Amino acid sequence: MPMETANMFNPASKVSKISHCSSMEQYKQMHDKSLKDPEAFWGEITKEFHFEEKVKGKFLDYNFDITKGKIFVRWLEGAKTNICYNCLDRHVLAGKGDQVAFYWEGNDPADAEVVTYGELLKDVCRVANVLKAKGVAKGDRVAIYMPMVKHLVVAMLAVARIGAVHSIVFGGYSADSLADRMMDAQASVLITADAVWRGPKLIALKEIADDALKLCSAKDLKVKMNLVVQHMNKVTAPQPASNGTAANGNVAKKTHFDDKGNFKVNWDPSVDVWWHEALSTVSSECDPVWMDTEDPLFMLYTSGSTGKPKGVQHTIGGYMLYTATTFKYSFDYHQGDVYFCTADIGWITGHSYVTYGPLLNGATSVLFEGVPTYPHTGRFWEIIEKYKVSKFYTAPTAIRALMKFGDEPVKKYDLSSLAVLGSVGEPINPEAWLWYYRVVGDSNVSIVDTFWQTETGGHVITPLPGATPCKPGSACFPFFGVDVALLDEEGREIKGEGEGYLVFCRPWPGMMRTVYGNHERFETTYFKKFPGFYCTGDGARRDSDGYIWVTGRIDDMLNVSGHLLSTAQVESSLVEHPSVAEAAAVARPHSIKGECLYCFVTLTEGNSFEDKLIAELKNKVRSKIGAFASPDFIQLAPGLPKTRSGKIMRRVLRKIAVGDKDFGDISTLADPSIVEKLFELRPKESKK
Ligand code: PRX
Repeated sequence: MPMETANMFNPASKVSKISHCSSMEQYKQMHDKSLKDPEAFWGEITKEFHFEEKVKGKFLDYNFDITKGKIFVRWLEGAKTNICYNCLDRHVLAGKGDQVAFYWEGNDPADAEVVTYGELLKDVCRVANVLKAKGVAKGDRVAIYMPMVKHLVVAMLAVARIGAVHSIVFGGYSADSLADRMMDAQASVLITADAVWRGPKLIALKEIADDALKLCSAKDLKVKMNLVVQHMNKVTAPQPASNGTAANGNVAKKTHFDDKGNFKVNWDPSVDVWWHEALSTVSSECDPVWMDTEDPLFMLYTSGSTGKPKGVQHTIGGYMLYTATTFKYSFDYHQGDVYFCTADIGWITGHSYVTYGPLLNGATSVLFEGVPTYPHTGRFWEIIEKYKVSKFYTAPTAIRALMKFGDEPVKKYDLSSLAVLGSVGEPINPEAWLWYYRVVGDSNVSIVDTFWQTETGGHVITPLPGATPCKPGSACFPFFGVDVALLDEEGREIKGEGEGYLVFCRPWPGMMRTVYGNHERFETTYFKKFPGFYCTGDGARRDSDGYIWVTGRIDDMLNVSGHLLSTAQVESSLVEHPSVAEAAAVARPHSIKGECLYCFVTLTEGNSFEDKLIAELKNKVRSKIGAFASPDFIQLAPGLPKTRSGKIMRRVLRKIAVGDKDFGDISTLADPSIVEKLFELRPKESKK
């Protein structure tokens, strides 16, 4: 072990002592083996899972070099399995049917439920039978738009059980976004819930889904069924705020509830089916469909630089091995641990590390419906104490938000059960890392800063909590099977210390296989810039000790509270407003969200820039994308800084957004005087 310093933290000894990987020597030896002999390394791991048929062809076959032909990746050719069977049946058959799979914790602390593996399996089979009865079969796409309830896990596993493909859309997306994704996937079924309380706010999911279904049917997408979970009658509504003002929820109660307090929904009997009614009429047994390992498991939409989201497609076998293995090693999971990941299943973190990774390991997890600050700012810590959570996984944006309330809300609770604390979604600033370590972890935990992407399926660069001495802010070293390189602009590899494009040299089992319906987009987005490499779109630095520091996106993507957005996506929403002729969006650093949106708009003739317009524009982005994408700043731009060839010089806009006059060389602009004008027009609130 190196000497512990202010910049280097050794793994907690209580973790190392029992760890699956307890030293850097062991990590290096396992990592070497995973690269030298992937078949031996991953072949050993396949033995832990049920494969109905063994590998018949090549264990791994791929092409990463676009100049040599089509990009493809295939693992475990010819083998057959079912991921739902491996998540549930395997454990139930081993006598673990009564083990807790999830402690469900509602938005309100009064709401909680315990779900065992055996119960999950029965409900999954029931939903699978409901889907089959509606004609859903292997390869069909099922859209899911749900809150963080057990039914969401049940729905995704039921889809996987019958070989269909799930496309989960985060419950914070708007009707437009849901419809776009359903159209792209040509989904034949939607699964949703009546509504959910998120903190004091009501999210009327069914109402939004109804609007989305109207948009779909206007474009000739026939949806056979909208399966609706009745959730509102089971949960506690928010109480009036303690300061006497009506909480947001009270307004919702007036408009969305009838006199008896029942939640109202519009019902279209030609598509709408209540979940509980449908489940009561079917069997709780359903044989799994044995699938090829390279058959699709799910698609999940992520932002694309063209503004049109892309359906990242993952396949069954490789994703199963990879999420299971990363979960086991990155969190050092052992039976008896209680694990809590705060991510929503609507994002990749929830797919891989709320559902698949934990269930494949037979783990016991907390499934949390609410938000970190409701009904008080100690909610996470209260839950950790209540369930004696030992492995906790959250995002830097949440850590920063909670840090603002000081140490006291943390210190109120007994968090001594904690052993491993994870971080994901964006680079974690050392200040937040240290607070997480010292205040939440009481300097007696291992921190894992896990770098990965929707596309990578699971962690690709991460410390191992029993082995890796950590430097706050560094994601440290590649996971097993991952071969990292840094390239300069010309594609030359940077060896040793240096900074460049973060790329991967070969496939690991959990990587995406294609963009749904558009393989060419997959090839151009990830493989065209540097033939022979998967390009992450992130920059990274390697220090003299070989530690990797991910520095953030180097494309036109921004990361708001750990959620990727493309500037193009935001700009195309803004220009839909009749008063906007042109728009440019850039990222501005934000103390809690990491980055926020700062937008420049050029108006069409005759329009004036007023508060009402600003509010309308913010709303436009909310309704096209979702509330989480709402811009923090919108400023008037009589013109945009463009080169003579018409390309917007975004680095200048980024400088204006933060009030920095150090613009660099602007001589190539068609009209350099616009820069000064834009600087003067910065909104007052942006100067704080
Ligand atoms: O820029 C990186 C950042 O998040 C991007 C991936 O976003 P998404 O596909 O939405 O998946 C988020 C959850 C896995 C990456 O390209 N990112 C994610 N984790 C880290 C990170 N940047 C630095 N450090 C991390 N630990």
